[in-house]
Amino acid sequence: MKDLKYTTIEESLKQEDSNVNLRGWVYRERKSNKFVFIVLRDESDIIQCVISKAKSPEIFEKAEKLTIESSVKISGDLKEDERAPTGYEVSVSDLQIVQIAEPFPITEHQSPELLYDNRHLWIRSRKLNAILKIRHTVVGAIHEFFRSHGYYKFDAPIFQPNQSEGGATLFEVKYFDDITYLSQTWQLYAEAGIFSLGKIYNMGPTFRAEKSKTSRHLSEFWMAEMEAAWMQLDEVTEVAKDEIRFIVKEVLKHNKKELEILERDIKLLEHYTEAEYPTIKYSEALDILNTKYKMNVPWGKDLRTMEETKIAEHFKVPVVVTHYPTEIMGFYKPPSEENPKEALCFDMLAPERYCEIVGGSERSLLLENMIKRLEADGEDPKNYEWYFELRRYGSVPHSGYGLGVERVIMWLCGLDNIKDAIPFPRTMLRKAP
Ligand code: 4AD
Ligand code: MG
Repeated sequence: MKDLKYTTIEESLKQEDSNVNLRGWVYRERKSNKFVFIVLRDESDIIQCVISKAKSPEIFEKAEKLTIESSVKISGDLKEDERAPTGYEVSVSDLQIVQIAEPFPITEHQSPELLYDNRHLWIRSRKLNAILKIRHTVVGAIHEFFRSHGYYKFDAPIFQPNQSEGGATLFEVKYFDDITYLSQTWQLYAEAGIFSLGKIYNMGPTFRAEKSKTSRHLSEFWMAEMEAAWMQLDEVTEVAKDEIRFIVKEVLKHNKKELEILERDIKLLEHYTEAEYPTIKYSEALDILNTKYKMNVPWGKDLRTMEETKIAEHFKVPVVVTHYPTEIMGFYKPPSEENPKEALCFDMLAPERYCEIVGGSERSLLLENMIKRLEADGEDPKNYEWYFELRRYGSVPHSGYGLGVERVIMWLCGLDNIKDAIPFPRTMLRKAP
């Protein structure tokens, strides 16, 4: 079977010729006295293959040895068959066993923890295969969105000398005879980059020592960020909305089959590509929560998950919330001129309980104010000297945001846990495999 031309299962279903040569793994197997049925899987799909003892005793004998995840090459005749789980069946005329797999550690109805322990094997599952294909689309869409809107890709270091999103979630690493930290955000370096390139973006690994064991936090995740000179809050929120709509459209264009495997509501996703996403102020969000839902959230408190959930459910589409209280925001988020208690910042909240998927802001140009705020956080402003210099040499208004890639994948795939949005999740309780 050496010189055969192999196709994927998906390609074989489209080709005219009913004779197919396939390579893959045994996804399921069922044996009787007369037949061996295997469901073969490859990267593209699954298909039932049948080996008949009457037709070829020799192949039947080989097929009887097959175990789950054994690797095989198969030739045969492809026919439509209503009874087959995938609607088609290959009547096998040749079988080459590449390897007989040892008993596979994953069987039906496994605990989630066992699946995470066996993540290196579980990524072969149909569910993970579908999610990873959607992830591929999301990542591609983010690059395409920014490139087609005139943004340059700009790379920042992962080793960074200071915090930018709060010291509590910094990962400290040994750095020769010294220490340094893993990147919590690309942003501060991006604020240097815009003075050269104007509009820039990035997507890269981001690290936070999150001590919370929620279903929405990873300690290593991918953030897609943008930063643009001259841009202000009302404009940057629209970029975020356009980016999200574009990502959803691309997933619908390329991944209908995967969304069906995940039993995702496709109509609802279609609605997200057409709907307007509202922008409201934090104070309006409180009005809704306190008046309509009788929740009693005092001004000045950050929105908790249950409050974010309510707001997004109220609108049933992604919603942008701006002007959070300055006090509880990062040092670089500027107070608004009209009301310094409110910061020129925003979050985008996804509906269906997915909550914050994007966070961004205008960037403060007020040196003294930033220094005071860093000091109040116990930081040494000296470590930020290079950053402050950006405010000394041709400072301009600018804005940016970060999108949680796994948060978006989790929402689009309808996942219960963010850990399934990345091949090998890292959390407080999991650092292997
Ligand atoms: O809201 P965050 O913390 O914003 C920043 O880091 C800004 N410096 C970004 C910027 O303006 N360039 O994080 C941005 C997004 C969040 O909205 C969330 O979607 C995601 O990153 N995120 C996480 N995703 C998974 N696990 C975590 N631990 C996350 N922390 C933030
Ligand atoms: Mg945030």
